[in-house]
Amino acid sequence: MTPPLPGTVEVSESPAALAERAAAWVAGRAAAATAEGGGFAIALAGGSTPRALYQRLAAPPYRDRLDWARWSVYFGDERAAPPDDPESNYLLARQTLLEHVPIPPGQVHRMEAERPDLDAAAAAYSAVLEATLPPGPAGAPRLDCVLLGIGTDGHTASLFPGVRALEVAEAWATRSLATYAPFDRITVTFPLINAAAAVAFLVTGESKRAALAGVVAGTVPSARVRPAHGELRWFLDAVAAGG
Ligand code: 6PG
Repeated sequence: MTPPLPGTVEVSESPAALAERAAAWVAGRAAAATAEGGGFAIALAGGSTPRALYQRLAAPPYRDRLDWARWSVYFGDERAAPPDDPESNYLLARQTLLEHVPIPPGQVHRMEAERPDLDAAAAAYSAVLEATLPPGPAGAPRLDCVLLGIGTDGHTASLFPGVRALEVAEAWATRSLATYAPFDRITVTFPLINAAAAVAFLVTGESKRAALAGVVAGTVPSARVRPAHGELRWFLDAVAAGG
């Protein structure tokens, strides 16, 4: 029984099939955004689930078909680790996607979470979002697409249950604290996520079922992802969906 999640739910029979469908969806949104000469600004998710999606986008036909020069890449969150650390979300994106497609390096906006002063680093990233993205209807910087994962506790990005970052309303990125190492983080905030034109969760595995139930019940941070003027889509595999 697929959980009655807000927005559109797509259930795939396997993680590989989910990556295929999510890649087609991202590619479609990118093609639409760049068709008239515009750009495509996307915030990438961290963790492990998005790996297959990034690898799929970096392979034919998408590698050869998409107008990568018009892509701008941001990150939903980052661990307090150097960009070549195995824990780095940037490293995941670099190795699986950014090294394989011709996105201009100046259009890849990395969260500098290795800086000693995370508050300053988060404020700097908030300023980058504001300076490089157009304002949405409510004034927040508007991304074309935000990719998100969900933790077993219902967190998303690095918006963990009970942390101060959940309530940050006046900044687009802030420092946060995870419940597992690396504990110190930088994360985008709900106002930034909810200003996006499209937000998609990528969710696989039985361990995420309770978190999805928490979204339905409104009891976990991911339940607060509700883009006011945009699409919300859930890519689930059959196991996460309870099938
Ligand atoms: C991170 C992610 C985090 C992740 C979830 C799910 O930095 O870890 O931003 O929000 O998306 O924890 O992680 P998995 O995809 O590894 O299950």
